[in-house]
Amino acid sequence: RIAGPCSMVMFGVTGDLARKKLMPAIYDLANRGLLPPGFSLVGFARREWADQDFARIVHDSVRAHARTPFREEVWRSLAEGFRFVPGAFDDAEAFELLARTVHALDRERGTGGNHAFYLSIPPDWFAPVCSQLQRSGLSDPRPGTWRRVVIEKPFGHDLGSAQQLNAIVEGVFPADSIFRIDHYLGKETVQNLLALRFANQMFEPVWNSHYVDHVQITMAEDIGIGGRAGYYDTVGAARDVIQNHLLQLLALTAMEAPIAFTADAVRSEKEKVLASVRLLDDLDRSSARGRYSAGWQGDERVRGYLEEDGVDAGSTTETYAAMKVEVHTRRWAGVPFYLRTGKRLGKRVTEIAVVLKRAPHLPFTDTATEELGQNAVVVRVQPDEGVTMRFGSKVPGSQMEVRDVTMDFGYGASFTESSPEAYERLILDVLLGEPPLFPRHEEVESSWRILDPIIEHWRASGTPPEDYVAGTWGPPSADELMRRDGREWRLP
Ligand code: BG6
Repeated sequence: RIAGPCSMVMFGVTGDLARKKLMPAIYDLANRGLLPPGFSLVGFARREWADQDFARIVHDSVRAHARTPFREEVWRSLAEGFRFVPGAFDDAEAFELLARTVHALDRERGTGGNHAFYLSIPPDWFAPVCSQLQRSGLSDPRPGTWRRVVIEKPFGHDLGSAQQLNAIVEGVFPADSIFRIDHYLGKETVQNLLALRFANQMFEPVWNSHYVDHVQITMAEDIGIGGRAGYYDTVGAARDVIQNHLLQLLALTAMEAPIAFTADAVRSEKEKVLASVRLLDDLDRSSARGRYSAGWQGDERVRGYLEEDGVDAGSTTETYAAMKVEVHTRRWAGVPFYLRTGKRLGKRVTEIAVVLKRAPHLPFTDTATEELGQNAVVVRVQPDEGVTMRFGSKVPGSQMEVRDVTMDFGYGASFTESSPEAYERLILDVLLGEPPLFPRHEEVESSWRILDPIIEHWRASGTPPEDYVAGTWGPPSADELMRRDGREWRLP
């Protein structure tokens, strides 16, 4: 579907995210013909730029990062709708100018009085920007038009701050006009979890504590923190990606079937799961954290976290986090969910592995089944998108011997259609006003309720995270966490 007439105002246009993801996504949408003809993009930042300077910045980012080919005519017609407003996020006059610019676009380019405000800025600035949007009248739609606000994580750094942020934003925009971005929900494979589970008959019957032994959700990255020390060192792995991406993956894996694929139905099922997640009593034994030390990533020698530019020498920030949680519902009683994430791990891979119990009885000798593991359904979120099923099969020959094999579905082999980048899908959904893929504030707050005690436990311990060598799979305590339960992490 093509978005109707509208414009987007972007705060934070000088940031990394805008340059690498947002601007290229807007161009890709234009290139795919999904933006309305008069679509306009207004940049707002503390820079003395003219419209042409802003256009040049967007141009460079599109050339460097867009996924679709560069087409001069698409670019030129898109760039006609670029405007730039210089100003600080609390500068009332600059917001007056912004309001005049936006209203002028309504007349000149037929944006219909519909405006989205994208806050790609640190959360400390949400309050001033929202209040300026309100003061200048920009947050108030005239009848028959819409105003939407898009906010990027981090949505706070704990439950209390998340509640404050939600109150600030919801004090200015109605709840259904607020789009909280979790870019994992824009990924094709993540949305496919819902199709896999609820469009088929073969998975749901075993998707419960009768058949599932445990679930492992892994988000491993091979990169370090790059130039993001200023952000990352105050946040750490758990807040950076478990609070949002991993708990969202857990929610989609564990939720009940929504009655329809509507925003309310999907989000209320996810909310129920997040509200039923419980930590174990002994957080020492059910969580682990680590920090990478110097090592090898392939054939590249890489620095340890404490040697990264901008990281405080006394930092206790974790770059790896693992935890075991339970979902207290009838469906999942007694099934552990293990979550782990880390920077500078063995390779970049995100996957959800649903590992089944062993068959209750095997009519074979023990030697025949030595190489038979547990059946598993593995949703490969990235980079090799697809689904793997693992099960035992007879080894060819005259003996009865059973060994694990895998059956693969890969996007590349099964579809000729290409997946849009997550941000393309999400930006288009904002413009279309389709909220199912955006977490509601209840989900955000439940996620903090889960994480806060663990982070507090780590802080109170007063010890730094355990070291792991860059390029390996995390600290020994994470392996022990699994070993104590008689299990091990998958090696993706
Ligand atoms: C972001 C985190 O939300 O997700 C980053 O802040 C992380 O630290 C990134 O690198 C990973 O996203 P993706 O889409 O590359 O898996």
